[in-house]
Amino acid sequence: LQPLSATLSDAHSETENVELADLDWDNLGFGLQTTDYMYVMKCPHGAEGVFSKGELKRFGNIELNPSAGVLNYGQGLFEGLKAYRKHDGNILLFRPQENALRMRMGAERMCMPSPAVEQFVEAVKETVLANKRWVPPPGKGSLYIRPLLMGSGPVLGLAPAPEYTFLIYASPVGNYFKEGLAPINLIVENELHRATPGGTGGVKTIGNYTAVLKAQSAAKARGYSDVLYLDCVHKKYLEEVSSCNIFVVKGNVISTPAVKGTILPGITRKSIIDVGRSQGFQVEERLVSVDELLDADEVFCTGTAVVVSPVGSVTYLGDRVSYRDGVGAVSQQLHTALTRLQMGLAEDEMNWTVEL
Ligand code: COI
Repeated sequence: LQPLSATLSDAHSETENVELADLDWDNLGFGLQTTDYMYVMKCPHGAEGVFSKGELKRFGNIELNPSAGVLNYGQGLFEGLKAYRKHDGNILLFRPQENALRMRMGAERMCMPSPAVEQFVEAVKETVLANKRWVPPPGKGSLYIRPLLMGSGPVLGLAPAPEYTFLIYASPVGNYFKEGLAPINLIVENELHRATPGGTGGVKTIGNYTAVLKAQSAAKARGYSDVLYLDCVHKKYLEEVSSCNIFVVKGNVISTPAVKGTILPGITRKSIIDVGRSQGFQVEERLVSVDELLDADEVFCTGTAVVVSPVGSVTYLGDRVSYRDGVGAVSQQLHTALTRLQMGLAEDEMNWTVEL
């Protein structure tokens, strides 16, 4: 590993500063803005699942054997977390240990070794510090951190890859949906499913996100923001949206589908459940039917990328139901509470943030 100060100073070349100066912090969307460094760590063949010490490298293309497990059999996982800049200039990470633990759980399902929690968190910290200048100013967005774990060693017959690569890159981001903070319009998908019982829907494997592209593209072409999937057995219980979890509000009760293998255990989902309860709501994790969705006072989505996004309408079997509250009071209250914590504006009683 090169000394960080040396590598960082050459990152501040004139060209790169121009790039940064060109960035419109007020209009960041959710697209890739490349940053200076990525972090790479390997678990070589015969290392018995132990990752060797990683290093920061200039951000750029990586080389893979055409026979790599990830390319041929989709042996890959990813994570997503954010870093926020505080008013005092320091940077806050939100619950990075949770991402590390979720990656470990997913890796077990996908027959991959995964970095230890401390290795993961340390790697995230190094990546963020190396790309510090790309963390948006307070209130203008965040630095989205994308850890990847992939079978990078060659395989031809179907088997776990012999070598694994853990990589982190980062990009400054703003709102995920083009609607910004305005309510999104969802269509409930009745034919295609995201996950099956016993499958991999409950882990953050790359294939889960490919599986939704067909329905998502069709929905977007028809003007919807995204797709809400149903369970594939009864076709009547809510699962999740392509990129986020779903919550329905009725009176003082906030309900979200329980995670039982087909739904991603979102870290924002988990945080909102706790924040909601601490604010006096009754939060239930259980089967939530389409009927309840259509009868809700308010609906919202949660995710690292989407944060807390209000749902303005859902369309089910051709009928559109609009939520009279629009940007509902509950989702707004929870959004404010969560983002104040993430940005260091509220007392972090739960010890969720890590300051850099
Ligand atoms: C996230 O919210 O971090 C995700 O991983 C969803 C992704 C599709 C942007």
